Amino acid sequence: MFQSPKLKRNDPCWCGSGKKYKKCHMLQDQQEHASQPRTAKSKYAKTPAEIEGMRKAGKFNGELMDFVRGHVAEGISTLKLDILVNEYTRDHGHVPATLGYQGFTRSICTSINNVVCHGIPSESEILRDGDIVNVDLTTIVDGFHGDSSETFLIGRVAEEVKKLVRVTAECMIQGIRAVGPGIPLAILGQTIEPYARRYGYSIVRQYTGHGIGRKFHENFSVYHHESNEGDNVSLQPGITFTIEPMVNMGGYQVSTDKVDKWTVRTKDGLMSAQFEHTVLITAEGCEVLTLTPSQKEKGVIIDIPGMPLEISAAI
Ligand code: MF3
Ligand code: CO
Ligand code: CO
Repeated sequence: MFQSPKLKRNDPCWCGSGKKYKKCHMLQDQQEHASQPRTAKSKYAKTPAEIEGMRKAGKFNGELMDFVRGHVAEGISTLKLDILVNEYTRDHGHVPATLGYQGFTRSICTSINNVVCHGIPSESEILRDGDIVNVDLTTIVDGFHGDSSETFLIGRVAEEVKKLVRVTAECMIQGIRAVGPGIPLAILGQTIEPYARRYGYSIVRQYTGHGIGRKFHENFSVYHHESNEGDNVSLQPGITFTIEPMVNMGGYQVSTDKVDKWTVRTKDGLMSAQFEHTVLITAEGCEVLTLTPSQKEKGVIIDIPGMPLEISAAI
């Protein structure tokens, strides 16, 4: 991560405001620094043909989410959702990416309530009134991946849980708005974590977003929390990656199920929500790939049934 050579994050800002550097000019300095090699081609940038492949994969993934939306409801099992996604994907000639991925046995991940991610669909797991469930879809279309997820509200969800879901969606939207050509990837953690903290929530650290293309997870990790460890990627046109913050109502710590070795839960048992889109950096800014053509046209980033309108207002 770029920092002014003289100043550390918690030092007083050079401008004399008396504020900490990180709360004052740090972001601006980083952006100016990163925007210098704006014309430099990133080693991560995809070719025009690859970008078209990613657009096609994203479009199908968005349409698949639209299809799923019509089926997520109280009383359905997560396995039924998995089967529906598998069939829809295969009927269209495409491949569910998680099926067989590192031993994962299903076509989607379904993560309910305190499950953070990688929940395995099961026949005995029925969506109940008051649940929240993240459905994570990854599809391979002609060799390219599209990856997106949404957290759905089932029936009458407690107000404080609805708020978690809304703020999580806003975290992703803030991230999407923050990225563009010449911007350092670290902007995501710097934007998303403080936003979640305002509500007393925490950002999961152990799981991140990722570069995406012909491979499911490629090139670099995308931290949604403020960290000095991430690659200081200068975002440039042609780079594709996911933005997928996992936001916990309590602490950020998580643990993995000892038996199935996949299901990730919050350590404190409190709720967790997540939204994900695959994005492309363009010369103008950021294109969200995992949308339907009509969502793209309307400029909608998320379309959650039952969610208050503030989300559309935030876009
Ligand atoms: N779709 C998840 C992601 O956003 C990864 C799921 S991998 C699986 O990166 F093996 F758990 F399915
Ligand atoms: Co995903
Ligand atoms: Co992902």
